[in-house]
Amino acid sequence: MAIPLIDIKVQYKELREEIMQAIQDVLAGGEYILGSNVTALEAEIAGYCGTSYGIGVASGTDALILSLLAAGIGAGDEVITTPFSFFATAGAIARVGAKPVFVDIEPDTFNISPQHICNKITPRTKAIVPVHIFGQTANMEVINELAKQFNLTVIEDACQAIGALYKGQKAGSLGSAGCFSFFPTKNLGGYGDGGMVVTNDGVLAEKIRMLRVHGSTKKYYHRVIGYNSRLDEIQAAIIRVKLRHLDKWNQERRRLSAQYAKLCDDLTFEGFTLRLPKEESINHHVYHLYTVRCSHRDKILKELTRNNIAAGVYYPLPLHLQEAFNYLGYRKGDLPEAELASREVLSLPLYAGLDDSIVKRVVDVLKS
Ligand SMILES: Cc1ncc(COP(=O)(O)O)c(C=O)c1O
Repeated sequence: MAIPLIDIKVQYKELREEIMQAIQDVLAGGEYILGSNVTALEAEIAGYCGTSYGIGVASGTDALILSLLAAGIGAGDEVITTPFSFFATAGAIARVGAKPVFVDIEPDTFNISPQHICNKITPRTKAIVPVHIFGQTANMEVINELAKQFNLTVIEDACQAIGALYKGQKAGSLGSAGCFSFFPTKNLGGYGDGGMVVTNDGVLAEKIRMLRVHGSTKKYYHRVIGYNSRLDEIQAAIIRVKLRHLDKWNQERRRLSAQYAKLCDDLTFEGFTLRLPKEESINHHVYHLYTVRCSHRDKILKELTRNNIAAGVYYPLPLHLQEAFNYLGYRKGDLPEAELASREVLSLPLYAGLDDSIVKRVVDVLKS
């Protein structure tokens, strides 16, 4: 039997009745864009994160773009971020006209290194976009201290980390704005694209609300040039059903991750090392991905594939070396930790509903 990296059909099977009912209610209600489900989901996600506002948008990418624009970031500005993320993080920064400035990561958590941020702050720096990669928050205390000292906006890319905690506080509520993605494979995924921004800043929230509907606050009157970036009702209705199960699913991810850690514990011998993901004691990791580091990664990946086990490489090429960012002038060797991580990372099958016997089978193949 083939073992997938993620099986998103499991949740659908679990909640089929509720989800079908929610979709039918939307279809029968005749309100398809920015209706009562979007409004309710915005309040529910804001409440879940402990923030005052939630603004539904069309994707996690748009959540980042609209947050940056609302914070006044654009041409001539520099925004510090991590090279070890999905392309959208830096793509959003470049899309608003600003310059992404990449700083290296911490090898144990794969998150942006606050120490390296200091060296890259210039008079043009306007913001920091930390990414809570794989479901674990970045070192927000140091990042926020730097932001305060240099008057920078902090926009959290929390797309992979809904439900994660940093010192007991929810991911997304730790900076000026937090961005979530409801891409189907995310810990809280819809059945299409979707995203949300959460914030405690009423002015920022208002701007994002305006930007998502072509810069208007009153129908057919446009104050600025915005976007069409709305979360649709069907997705909102589905995500509302799923939100009620999120903590249980995240807990399940944590339990399965602990199972991997236990079974993999002795997987180090001459010529082969396997490093398990490290959870900082102040963090509550939600394991969007269970990503280990290993020597001979490609060989192992091949062997897993041969055994019908799907593993993933997130991410094979760091952002500073992507062709799209050639114009920034980075070279191989500039950010060694991110580059090494790209050669060593391997994400193992993990999703809520994964059977313990599969975890054991994956580890058995790794051991063999
Ligand atoms: C870290 C990160 N940032 C941004 C995004 C973009 O989200 P979306 O695909 O919803 O646009 C994603 C997910 O795809 C992501 O993993």
